[in-house]
Amino acid sequence: MAMLTEKMQTALNGQLNAELYSSYLYLSMNAYFKSVNLDGFANWMYYQAQEELEHSLKFYDFIIRRGGKVQLQQIAAPPTEWNSPLAVFEATLEHEQKVTGLINDLVDVAHEERDHATNIFLQWFVSEQVEEEESAGGVLEQLKLLGDAKGGLFMIDRELSKRGASGGSEESE
Ligand SMILES: [Fe+2]
Ligand SMILES: [Fe+2]
Repeated sequence: MAMLTEKMQTALNGQLNAELYSSYLYLSMNAYFKSVNLDGFANWMYYQAQEELEHSLKFYDFIIRRGGKVQLQQIAAPPTEWNSPLAVFEATLEHEQKVTGLINDLVDVAHEERDHATNIFLQWFVSEQVEEEESAGGVLEQLKLLGDAKGGLFMIDRELSKRGASGGSEESE
């Protein structure tokens, strides 16, 4: 199997960093939800942060398996404050849409470099991004429907507390 080209390696290292930033972002959102006593929302973000760490490790392992050089870069500090749960999920969906764009750009590079192995590796992430946008968008829609009704917020909070629990609907890593 051919080595990664310089361009492909740089792009994969960039995504490794982007996935680590995603994990940072969701961990920061976990801390925000903890601070406002929305433990179910916090739980959802905790599992989201773990998933992103797993994504970063997939890139890490792949670069090494291809005989490439891992280049860990500085991770930017995420925001720490949001105005409301709605604002958090608006930011979450927006972030996932941005990541989808990054994954699509990576697929383009794999095509340009005629790197079929990387192209196949990336297909998992193409599908994963559909799920990521779907799950963040789903919570966002519920929050939008809610408006100012406080009781509903706690209902959603209870629902989100189930993520990661045994028997919960953790459909992918
Ligand atoms: Fe990710
Ligand atoms: Fe994600």
